Amino acid sequence: MSVTRTKVKDLLKAQPGQEVLAKGWVRTKRGNKGIAFIALNDGSTINNIQIVVDKTQFAEDLLAKITTGACIGVTGNLVESMGSGQAVEIQATEIELYGECDPMRFPIQKKDITFEYLRTVAHMRMRTNTFGAVLRIRSHMANAIHQYFHGKGFVYLNTPLITASDCEGAGQMFQVTTLDLNDIPKNKKGAVDFSQDFFGKQTSLTVSGQLEGELGATALGEIYTFGPTFRAENSNTPRHLAEFWMIEPEMAFYDIKDNMDLAEDFIKSLVKYALENCYDDIKFLNDKYDDTLLDRLNSVIGTEFVRLPYTEGIKILEEAIANGTTFEYPVAWGVDLQSEHERYLVEKHFGKPVILTDYPKDIKAFYMKQNEDGKTVRAMDVLFPKIGEIIGGSEREASLEKLETRIDELQMSRKNLEWYIDTRRFGSCPHSGFGLGFERLLLFVTGMSNIRDVIPFPRTPKNAEY
Ligand code: 4AD
Ligand code: MG
Repeated sequence: MSVTRTKVKDLLKAQPGQEVLAKGWVRTKRGNKGIAFIALNDGSTINNIQIVVDKTQFAEDLLAKITTGACIGVTGNLVESMGSGQAVEIQATEIELYGECDPMRFPIQKKDITFEYLRTVAHMRMRTNTFGAVLRIRSHMANAIHQYFHGKGFVYLNTPLITASDCEGAGQMFQVTTLDLNDIPKNKKGAVDFSQDFFGKQTSLTVSGQLEGELGATALGEIYTFGPTFRAENSNTPRHLAEFWMIEPEMAFYDIKDNMDLAEDFIKSLVKYALENCYDDIKFLNDKYDDTLLDRLNSVIGTEFVRLPYTEGIKILEEAIANGTTFEYPVAWGVDLQSEHERYLVEKHFGKPVILTDYPKDIKAFYMKQNEDGKTVRAMDVLFPKIGEIIGGSEREASLEKLETRIDELQMSRKNLEWYIDTRRFGSCPHSGFGLGFERLLLFVTGMSNIRDVIPFPRTPKNAEY
């Protein structure tokens, strides 16, 4: 074949009247005695290019091997299409079969297979239209995130994945060790002797890059992280992963209001970017699964998020209960809100995203700035329709004395936090930040309902395939 390959995405926009070469995987083959129509997809777009095959020009056994899932290269003339549904098609002059695909064994051969089934064959599910769309959107969103922060002069900071500190203090960390688990060294007290471990101390996979992010912000001004984080929480829900990606901006001289403004602008920009750059894929998901998706995305861009103190939120929920609404989990000042409560506020009460602020200090992490009331902290959670919490953040406690007192109250180990406390000892400054769960964002943008379906290889309790 003398022509060079053109991607399907570009072929669909190319001028007819030229010889082209397309390579990809067969989505469908149909036709009649004389002609076959092959829908070919190469992953560059949700759309297929139609290949028209004059059966008299090709060997019968070659054509028989061109089944759904097979990989082929097709040379031919790009011509205006007679049929509806596409502007151009390829009249094949040469077909090379790269890889056959046994229809009896191909795991995603059938139409209308469930997401549950596809999770069991996640090594193949990227070949489906749906996962192609979701993963292209995921990639575009990663690009949008870097563009957004670079445009604002933020520094991209790489924080460690292996750490000795528990940022959220929730004890949900995966241990990292090279000790022989069948022969664990013990110290005189009978406890594990971590001095013999690889790092000479107990280490884990990070739950958040925030603490190191604060080091960066108090030196470089404005930073963001974007990387994998790990939580060993045994939550088998459609919104939790054991390994998920998080974006954590951290900014010197931002107070809680600046923080909220940035969070709101950030999410709106990302949704706008998705609509501008991933329209075909979003439209496909909208038409196939949830025809309110496009409306939801457009409405978020055009609306001002509600900003509401936690205490007010609790009042609204208590009133709802008094008026007959039932929740699975109880509501009272001091409780951590469940996703059913968050969604009530967002979907039923306000009908738009809500930023809930000033949570009770006892249900939030040690680093949050304490309010004058002695009971609440300057926290902010951004709550979204169908998702619940999509962002968690706060203004940080800048006072050395208050921070140290809080660490002691919570009986946290100071040993692994002295470096962090140094930010408050040396040139402490007001600062704020937040964490956006990348997969939660993708749930919103794609309209998918299970977080396992917006990451290529989900990690959840009892599941680490591939
Ligand atoms: O609210 P979280 O736990 O906050 C932090 O980790 C802070 N250190 C962030 C910061 O202020 N820099 O997590 C932040 C976000 C949540 O709002 C949620 O979107 C997502 O991370 N998230 C998860 N996503 C998927 N699976 C899980 N198990 C998640 N846990 C949190
Ligand atoms: Mg949170």
